[in-house]
Amino acid sequence: MEQCSANSGKLGIVALSNLTHPLKPAQVFHWGQLLGWLYTTRPGTAKDVKLKVQNCGGIERVNVAQSNVNAVDLALTVTFADLEAAADRLHGQAHHTPVMTSTTIDHQTGSRVFFKCENFQRIGAFKFRGAYNAMVQLADEQRRRGVLAFSSGNHAQAIALSGQLLDIPTTIVMPDDAPAVKLAATRGYGAEVVTYNRLTDSREGLAQQLAGDRGLTLIPPFDHPHVIAGQGTAAKELIEEVGELDLLLVCCGGGGLLSGCAIAAHALSPSCRVIGVEPKRADDATRSFYAKTLQTVENPDTIADGARTPSLGTLTFPLILYYVDDMVTVSEAAILRAMFFLWERLKLVVEPTGALATAALLEGIVNEPGARIGVIISGGNVDLKQAGKLFAKVTKTPKPQPRVPWAQELS
Ligand SMILES: Cc1ncc(COP(=O)(O)O)c(C=O)c1O
Repeated sequence: MEQCSANSGKLGIVALSNLTHPLKPAQVFHWGQLLGWLYTTRPGTAKDVKLKVQNCGGIERVNVAQSNVNAVDLALTVTFADLEAAADRLHGQAHHTPVMTSTTIDHQTGSRVFFKCENFQRIGAFKFRGAYNAMVQLADEQRRRGVLAFSSGNHAQAIALSGQLLDIPTTIVMPDDAPAVKLAATRGYGAEVVTYNRLTDSREGLAQQLAGDRGLTLIPPFDHPHVIAGQGTAAKELIEEVGELDLLLVCCGGGGLLSGCAIAAHALSPSCRVIGVEPKRADDATRSFYAKTLQTVENPDTIADGARTPSLGTLTFPLILYYVDDMVTVSEAAILRAMFFLWERLKLVVEPTGALATAALLEGIVNEPGARIGVIISGGNVDLKQAGKLFAKVTKTPKPQPRVPWAQELS
């Protein structure tokens, strides 16, 4: 028997006898074996729950002392209450971004579509929400020493701007081939940028070394409860503004935005189905979702740079398994067509990752006539010089194909 603690970092819960918690026992069983992380009940509900814990190797079963459970609860779960608290912290700091509609899209899809335009968020992407929500909660000593982040771009800018607003020094580890516009903006907000080669160097290794050497607090781009809660405020705002939805489409990289938005939808629009969208060339989250075990992808060659993350996180994966209803993928050509459509018809400057959810809709991969559909446009930070070249490659939309579930595609 082994006692489990918040810091042990190697155990996973496999069964809950009284579910007041967002985990389903069958799914938890998989997570316990494969991820080796601990997920428990919401704070305050632990006394009603009996827990069994299984070691990563699947051998030991442990009953967790309730005092222990509470400690872990606080460390690892994200609830709608966390999103509400995040929304309060962001009030007056983040923009309440506009929701746009298009009769062209409504006619084309036969549904009522609401675009939540996070390309108009501060720093040009939803990432400001999570970064600010995490940084504003740091202790004085952590603020004084500073924050470190690694990011393909938008999280970097979000940390840099939040640091400027909160007077916290920031250091950002970025790939040397990140879009020039993102590198320049990050430096412009006063952050120190340390670059690495994403084909040969480990950004996590470099970030951890820098954080250790300099005593900086690392704020990861998606796998952090305060980041997830902040990102979820995008969908919270959308649903509070337009009312309940039948469907919510959200792009997915590491899953911070998707899991946060799914928590919001679950609370505010319980019958809403949430679908995550990622590039076919970076389909690790879709494979993970269907396999119920964490799958990875290595340096995927996709124009959607925000979705090049190697895998979902230890926090975002179980949240997605529970709260998200489906995952779909879109081709590179489809991403480009969606971007082009949004620029030309809605006059929205959207970056490739920001166009993923729209692509799933326009290509007919998600096809729900009559439905009220929310679409998160996650960001608009695109190098304008590159955009010209990209749009020269736009091809005609093929006839919409019915969606083939991922599992069938394989067989
Ligand atoms: C514009 C944009 N959309 C979506 C994502 C994916 O976000 P997440 O990692 O939370 O899934 C990113 C990540 O960098 C991004 O920059």
